[in-house]
Amino acid sequence: MKVLVTGGLGFIGSETVIALYKNGHEPVIVDNLSNSKIEVLDNIEKVSGKRPTFYKVDCCDYEGFKKVFEKEGKMDAVIHFAGLKAVGESTKKPVEYYTNNLLSSLVLVRLMKEFGMKNIIFSSSATVYGVPERVPLVETDPVGHATNPYGETKIMIERILQDAAKADSSLNVCLLRYFNPIGADPSGLLGEDPNGIPNNIMPYISQVAAGKLKTLHVFGNDYPTPDGTGVRDYIHVVDLAEGHVAALKKLATNPGVVIYNLGTGKGTSVFELIAAFEKATGIKIPYVIDPRRPGDVAENYANADKAFEELGWKAKLNVEDACRDSYRFQTTTASK
Ligand code: NAD
Ligand code: UFG
Repeated sequence: MKVLVTGGLGFIGSETVIALYKNGHEPVIVDNLSNSKIEVLDNIEKVSGKRPTFYKVDCCDYEGFKKVFEKEGKMDAVIHFAGLKAVGESTKKPVEYYTNNLLSSLVLVRLMKEFGMKNIIFSSSATVYGVPERVPLVETDPVGHATNPYGETKIMIERILQDAAKADSSLNVCLLRYFNPIGADPSGLLGEDPNGIPNNIMPYISQVAAGKLKTLHVFGNDYPTPDGTGVRDYIHVVDLAEGHVAALKKLATNPGVVIYNLGTGKGTSVFELIAAFEKATGIKIPYVIDPRRPGDVAENYANADKAFEELGWKAKLNVEDACRDSYRFQTTTASK
């Protein structure tokens, strides 16, 4: 399939481009480089041996984005990664988050209609479940109120796409709810390279290991979990990327709206993650215990059975693999 990949130079998008090539698809990337670097394109070429067509276009810019559709002709599907994703930042810049994430999605849906494109995969998040009443989370659990504007944009975009599919039975929508993506391409050339101090734990630990940061701050050791630290479902980005390829296959069967959790189904605590990182790299991670971070929940992990049953997809790599790959990316390619 010829697949439009918005946000294709980002962390998950770039790895998905690799997976698309591996599975015989042809990616076309649109990215405005707001949270990625053009060098990622060279690194995609180094890993896959192929250089994707790339457009530096903002998905909110209807005229600019329309030119991509005109130029590319028939495209079979779109994977919509483009968006702003920092939870903390979204509470400080809510209007920017609503504007960018909603407008880019609305412009995309309008162009899909104008150009007769029928298949979309959307990067959603476990954040749409809000504060979970119970874990593991299943797809039929209620979509609640997110604890931040970023999460609200995911809930709203899910709804917009579902309503669009209700009005047009030929539209196929796959909502993929990611849990906690970590890891990097095993080549060390593609991964997550956040600006400034990382918000998420994996890049933070990697930067401590590489000597860029001094000490990890563990946010709370008094949660009602086995060791008191927060439990999450960490999924290797290589597995996550494969999930998108499996979802494309599903869309080809005209399923209408389908929703899948993409997680491992296994919860890992902060202490367990630190131990896995130390085992995988042989580097000791110094840490201090800080108070809980506002908005964090004790436990969040997926029931990923539906993706296995309907897509034949499940995570194959473990957190140690992800720690090893994150650290390799940190020490070879990430900004020093
Ligand atoms: P990322 O920031 O690395 O990638 C997003 C890419 O989109 C960036 O390259 C950025 O430059 C681009 N972009 C942003 N706004 C754009 C616009 N208006 N037009 C064109 N390009 C634009 O983030 P990621 O971690 O790869 O996440 C990809 C998607 O997955 C996002 O939608 C994110 O919300 C979602 N998601 C991520 C996580 C996570 O923890 N990483 C979890 C759940 C869901
Ligand atoms: N944590 C620390 N120290 C840090 C960073 C995080 O102890 O420096 C802890 C958190 O308290 C939490 C766990 O590590 O228990 C994971 O935190 P992350 O920030 O890495 O991830 P979150 O689960 O908070 O957030 C992720 C995605 C969001 C998404 C959310 C809900 O980053 O995009 O899951 O699905 F919205």
